[in-house]
Amino acid sequence: MIGSIINGQEFNNSDNTIDVINPYNGEVVSEIALASDIEFEKGVTNSYDTFHNTMKDMPAHERSDILRKTADLMEENAEEFAWAIVKEAGKPIHFSRGEVQRSVQVLRFASEEAKHITGEVVPMDAAIDGDGRLGLVKQVPLGVVAAITPFNFPLNLSLHKIAPAIAAGNTVIFKPAEKTPISAYQLVKLFQEAGLPDGVLNLVMGTGEIGEALVTHDKVHKISFTGSLPVGRSIQESAGFKKVTLELGSNSPNILFNDANINEAAKQLVKGAFSFSGQVCISAQRVYVQQDIYEPFLKEYIKQTNELTIGDPTDESTDIGPMISEEEAKRAKQWIDDAAEHGANVETGGERDGTILKPTIMTNVESNMKIIADEVFAPIVSVIPFDTEEDVIAYSNDSIYGLQAGVFTKDIDRAMRVADQLEMGGVWINEISTYRQDNHPYGGVKQSGVGREGVKYAVEDMTEPKFIGFKLKD
Ligand code: SIN
Repeated sequence: MIGSIINGQEFNNSDNTIDVINPYNGEVVSEIALASDIEFEKGVTNSYDTFHNTMKDMPAHERSDILRKTADLMEENAEEFAWAIVKEAGKPIHFSRGEVQRSVQVLRFASEEAKHITGEVVPMDAAIDGDGRLGLVKQVPLGVVAAITPFNFPLNLSLHKIAPAIAAGNTVIFKPAEKTPISAYQLVKLFQEAGLPDGVLNLVMGTGEIGEALVTHDKVHKISFTGSLPVGRSIQESAGFKKVTLELGSNSPNILFNDANINEAAKQLVKGAFSFSGQVCISAQRVYVQQDIYEPFLKEYIKQTNELTIGDPTDESTDIGPMISEEEAKRAKQWIDDAAEHGANVETGGERDGTILKPTIMTNVESNMKIIADEVFAPIVSVIPFDTEEDVIAYSNDSIYGLQAGVFTKDIDRAMRVADQLEMGGVWINEISTYRQDNHPYGGVKQSGVGREGVKYAVEDMTEPKFIGFKLKD
């Protein structure tokens, strides 16, 4: 049984528990003790006190050292983390290892960033009456950051909140997804081993109720959340004066102009639509293909999709494993069936076996179908023909979301024009929407979210400017 960790002490003696289930075979792989109300309150108060008593005064070089040591330890224990992700999330081992590598890198970026948090001198004499005054701006930490994290990248998306928060000098109260708490627990232990003082990173195990309690708690200064749009909307409504970063959903468009390399684009888009069974916020969901290459692209895309190896996530050769739960797989299958009933074609896939949904390509879709308009978060992609640049920009922007897009073309002028007109937080040229590097700004416009991650940008969002002015002359 694993439990909450507050001020270095573990609380795993509760009758209120949840089983952690391996989504591939249904085995119980662990059990978590949910935090009681008293433990929750203790956790938040301790995070608040530790900020004022310890963290506020911890020098940048110490924060940087701890982050670097955590990265080193994670690299040494990479296999342990990777297998935890396989067990709790059903992510194929090859991709789980990739997630751990990225996590190590996020820690290293944060270790560097901790040493580069600067302020500025304000040109006070630019204002009438400003002569003889000096204005300094320091970037200071906010206090307690609540990190509420999802199941799909249980380690790396947790670190995208925790590592910048620590780099910036905040304390963190961490609520991982209840389906994937094992890697979260290992992570907190690793920080302890690397010398992070007790209370700087408190872990509270719980369900959405704990998340809601964090959002309204007056000792929490910032909420950093990754998850669904409905939960994000409710956080935004309840957070009051707290700062929020919300990384929500999308229905990412990928656009292939007729000068794109068909085979290469198909190869990338197989990864882009089906990696981790499409349970990625920037998964390629809508693929727009210019009319004259539509048929050859579709043929190649179906062929490559049918070559994927589906099954056991512990197998080194597996490309596609289970979805996070049978409920989610059923929900996604229903979306396929609803679209098919309204005239869409299932070109390949469309079948479900327990938690596994076969990689599915749909055509003849309408913009109001759920598989187009909503975030599908499953291995389902729609391929849609278009005629002109103007049309495809309009189709792509016809969405409540705007996180990342991919554009495939050899024409640099067109690439720049399209990138400028897409309503997105980020646009990749000759790369899939699903590609993310951990040091670029990452976040959405419209209902895809608020704020940015990508370590440097998260640090900016986890500090605030504090002005200190001097009157130097009477
Ligand atoms: C996400 O699902 O938002 C994260 C994608 C990634 O970090 O690769």
